[in-house]
Amino acid sequence: MPMRIVFEGVGKTRKYYDSQNSLWRQQVVLRDLTFQVEDAEVFTILGPSGAGKSTLLRLVNRLEDPSQGHIMLDGHLASSIDVIALRRDVGMVFQLPAFFPGTVRENVIYGPKLHGTKTGLDGLAETCLAAVGLSPDLLGRRTQDLSVGQQQRVCLARALANGPAILLLDEPTSALDLSATLAMERLIARLAVERRLTVLFVSHDLEQVRRVGQRTMLLIDGHMVELSETEALFTQPQSDLTRRFCAGLWKEEKHG
Ligand SMILES: Nc1ncnc2c1ncn2[C@@H]1O[C@H](COP(=O)(O)OP(=O)(O)OP(=O)(O)O)[C@@H](O)[C@H]1O
Ligand SMILES: [Mg+2]
Repeated sequence: MPMRIVFEGVGKTRKYYDSQNSLWRQQVVLRDLTFQVEDAEVFTILGPSGAGKSTLLRLVNRLEDPSQGHIMLDGHLASSIDVIALRRDVGMVFQLPAFFPGTVRENVIYGPKLHGTKTGLDGLAETCLAAVGLSPDLLGRRTQDLSVGQQQRVCLARALANGPAILLLDEPTSALDLSATLAMERLIARLAVERRLTVLFVSHDLEQVRRVGQRTMLLIDGHMVELSETEALFTQPQSDLTRRFCAGLWKEEKHG
């Protein structure tokens, strides 16, 4: 079932300990974000390192909760949904492959098993592996014995095993070479259509964003600088900051 995500005035402030000055400080990481991602849309979040991109994804599957505002999933307040149920609907793939100790099979069926599925697990593991273009021969292999590209696909298969409506992808190709990156992008595009997934795809790579997302939000320092159709962001930027960022000039300017 496809799912729409609504962000209403979402902000995130974190406390951290400044050990040099022996005091607690506050950092505003996300500021007053209001936007929505439509059912079955592939939506990209673009921004420099430290902009708050991963934090924004973490709010959707409740690894963290917003400090202000709220997030609605299919009309329900995310904070009111049981976390285990929510994570079945919201799959996540992290920047670097991360596994539970064990085999590919154990990792892929981890979620369904946790949710009480007892039968059909072998078939499910094979189907999910096939969905990400991997051979069932890998099922008995230990995850650490795979290539990083294979590992990232297993992470995607693990997310799919729960039958999610939303996929959160946090720079899922950052550890891959160009051909593996392009293959992963094609795979995600195909899965989004076939399974009608709402996809939030985080990237700091301008070319990738242009290839992947129907619409893109540019996030800098926790601010939504612009949200547009992806091509328009590059060809008709609404602000000088967007123009400079999309031309790859922002970093130079910041440090120069
Ligand atoms: N666990 C944490 N505790 C405290 N501060 C954090 C934590 N994780 C991230 N931050 C801070 O929050 C801000 C936003 O971090 P976030 O990881 O969301 O950025 P990002 O846009 O994903 O960056 P990158 O492109 O480098 O992954 C940064 O200033 C970071 O230092
Ligand atoms: Mg990040």
